[in-house]
Amino acid sequence: MKKLAVLFSGKGTNFAHLAQRYNISLAITNNPQAQGIEVAKHHHIPLSIIEPKDFSSRESYDKEIVKCLKNHEIDLAVLAGFMRILTPVFTKQINAINLHPSLLPRHKGMNAIEKSFYDEYSQGGVSVHWVSDELDGGELIVQREISKAGLSFDEYYEAIKMAEKEALGLAIEKILE
Ligand code: GAR
Repeated sequence: MKKLAVLFSGKGTNFAHLAQRYNISLAITNNPQAQGIEVAKHHHIPLSIIEPKDFSSRESYDKEIVKCLKNHEIDLAVLAGFMRILTPVFTKQINAINLHPSLLPRHKGMNAIEKSFYDEYSQGGVSVHWVSDELDGGELIVQREISKAGLSFDEYYEAIKMAEKEALGLAIEKILE
């Protein structure tokens, strides 16, 4: 069986969804305050809190993450709200996918839900893609579109949150097939 790891920085709603559906072998966060830590505890998933402040460069930080993933013999790392730009130290060694709340290549980076809602297109959505050196770049695996017609921002936000879980599941199934 393929071994999965989830990397997260915040709430961990996507992590929680994955933990209900899959056997997650490892969780990693860069944020000791992340609410997602409770998800790891609840599901008894081994958790590593690796804080950037303990490392002198982005490369040395990524080296530690890579070491941790390799120690656990992880086949696929799922970035579910892991808010860091990764260096080639990570991207060249680790099979990883990333979830992003827009129809990439639109709205890379932060606040993608807000940017998508207020842009000129009638559709927004979510993407799951392979991780590359480029922020929110890399080959697309799955996209889910959402029509913005008639939705308030809060309704759109909720629709995105649901679509994220669906898209992540589909991408993982596709990869593990
Ligand atoms: C999700 O909306 C995810 O798409 C986004 O972070 C959020 C994490 O939520 N990721 C990015 O913006 C990556 N550039 P969660 O902690 O509740 O899963």
